[in-house]
Amino acid sequence: MEQGMILYQSKYGSSKKYAHWLQESTGFGCMRTADASYKDVLPCTTLVLCGGVYASGIAGLSFLRKNSHKLKDKKIAVFCVGASPYDERALLQLKEHNFRQDLNGLPLFYGRGAWNEGVMTWKDRTLCKMLQKALAKKDPATYEPWMEGCMASVGQVRDWCDPSYLTPLLTYLQEG
Ligand SMILES: Cc1cc2nc3c(=O)[nH]c(=O)nc-3n(C[C@H](O)[C@H](O)[C@H](O)COP(=O)(O)O)c2cc1C
Repeated sequence: MEQGMILYQSKYGSSKKYAHWLQESTGFGCMRTADASYKDVLPCTTLVLCGGVYASGIAGLSFLRKNSHKLKDKKIAVFCVGASPYDERALLQLKEHNFRQDLNGLPLFYGRGAWNEGVMTWKDRTLCKMLQKALAKKDPATYEPWMEGCMASVGQVRDWCDPSYLTPLLTYLQEG
């Protein structure tokens, strides 16, 4: 594959795990968005951003937004990591929610991450508990897949990270 860079933004480690698996498969460079500047990605033909999903927002996109006009000639892909099971419609909603203006049209891939309320910050844990409380009042028959995933995770410690989630992205990167 051509020269590339993987940037990741990960609060609890799953996106970091996927970024390193991707690095092993591609030989691309890999660094945190917090440590990266556009100069680090300037020599690359390909750029992949791996970011966790928090309340429907994809972490790390601000790097792409900030530098979008400087990155126009690059092949860019986003791999987001959430706790919900893979769902085509939910991915489309994430795209609509996160890819506005300059990011419109970017390919988005998905990997399932992890869930452990025990390691969350107090703020994150409180937010998740509030969401679960609100969902508990709804009729489970009307749940979207991510809502089912959210409710099934209450009090659980789960790690769904699996390198096979990277296959569609690797195929995309290998296409000319
Ligand atoms: C505050 C908070 C909000 C979250 N919101 C979502 C969400 O909207 N959709 C989802 O699928 N997962 C959601 N999650 C689960 C995370 O995406 C999941 O734990 C993922 O593995 C996080 O990536 P990271 O380990 O790289 O930080 C949320 C987690 C937290 C702590």
